[in-house]
Amino acid sequence: MKILITGGAGFIGSHVVRLFVEKYPQYQVFNLDKLTYAGNLQNLKDLEVEENYTFLKGDITDSAYLESIFSENAFDAVIHLAAESHVDRSISGPMAFVRTNVMGTVNLLEACRKHWLGQLEGKLFYHVSTDEVYGSLGDEGLFTESTAYDPRSPYSASKAASDHFVRAWHHTFGLPIKLSNCSNNYGPNHFPEKLIPLAIHNIKSGKPVPVYGKGDNVRDWLYVLDHARAIDVIFHKGKLGDTYNVGGVNEWRNIDLIELLCDVMDEKLGRQPGESRRLITFVKDRAGHDARYAIDSSKLMGELEWAPSVTFEEGLRKTVDWYLQNEEWLEEVTSGHYRDYYAQQYGER
Ligand code: NAD
Ligand code: DAU
Repeated sequence: MKILITGGAGFIGSHVVRLFVEKYPQYQVFNLDKLTYAGNLQNLKDLEVEENYTFLKGDITDSAYLESIFSENAFDAVIHLAAESHVDRSISGPMAFVRTNVMGTVNLLEACRKHWLGQLEGKLFYHVSTDEVYGSLGDEGLFTESTAYDPRSPYSASKAASDHFVRAWHHTFGLPIKLSNCSNNYGPNHFPEKLIPLAIHNIKSGKPVPVYGKGDNVRDWLYVLDHARAIDVIFHKGKLGDTYNVGGVNEWRNIDLIELLCDVMDEKLGRQPGESRRLITFVKDRAGHDARYAIDSSKLMGELEWAPSVTFEEGLRKTVDWYLQNEEWLEEVTSGHYRDYYAQQYGER
């Protein structure tokens, strides 16, 4: 089987590529990535020698490029992760999200439709999406697979649009598809514009840790390797045409999470208990900030027997250890353009 994984140099994609290359030596895995600021081949350096792994540098918004790679390689399946993924960037510059997340996804669907025409048996387009398409919850309730879509940021609207296009290609053209909508991931290779790695980086450097608003927004956190395991099981055993919600059953208010992280960092860095909490700084809230996300994963857990394998305490400790042991990775991605982004977003370097 030849599998095209898009966005494989990014955070989640790098773990999915690694899992498929290592677990399935009989598959040929192609990683297509534009290498935007979020893509980093360091994440997969050791895989470059593997015979079943090929990196393709390219842009999913370039349909001529997609035509060329689909003609050269008869892909049997696509696992689509490439996206612009940061909500704050979607507020300051939404068009990149429309181009990559909407147009890029439609280009991929069209490439599959054209190249799989008349031979759809055994083919699969697996779209990796987010729980943010369902909108924002109050204090009660969970997102299920049948919750109505209600995206509220440019990012989530672009992901919702992409989900609709994937389902439209299934219903209209018979394209074999699967989708999953996952909650907030954390773990190694996470770009430090997102809450947990940004906080780890700032705590380590003794810089203010920015918490939006009152810090009472709630997210459901899942260790990234458990998401990769879910993608593996859905890819192989999920029903064609179906959607699976993936979540950690692990809800945290941002402020509680950051306080826990400060305490773990104090311990790991040999600081006095409570020292890092002094860095917590409440800053201006995100525009249109969704209050709460929480996922009902019972379909995935019941039908496909998936469950998170790592508790949040363990996952957070593993994540902190990884960032402390990979200082070079962190230094590299937080130089140059990252500093400009940080200055624009938080008003300081
Ligand atoms: P990321 O930003 O870390 O990585 C995205 C990757 O896509 C990068 O390697 C980037 O270079 C590549 N890319 C961007 N534009 C491209 C283009 N036009 N052509 C080719 N490659 C391009 O993102 P992530 O956090 O790993 O998220 C991966 C996917 O999972 C996204 O679709 C995202 O919506 C979804 N998702 C993320 C989370 C999360 O918590 N991070 C949760 C649920 C779903
Ligand atoms: O729910 C899944 C989504 O989770 C994914 O689809 C997105 O790609 C991913 O980026 C993530 O979106 P969030 O907006 O929830 O993640 P982020 O890490 O940006 O923010 C988490 C929470 O922390 C959110 O309530 C905003 C808050 N926050 C974030 C940053 C960057 C802060 O308080 N301070 C910050 O500096």
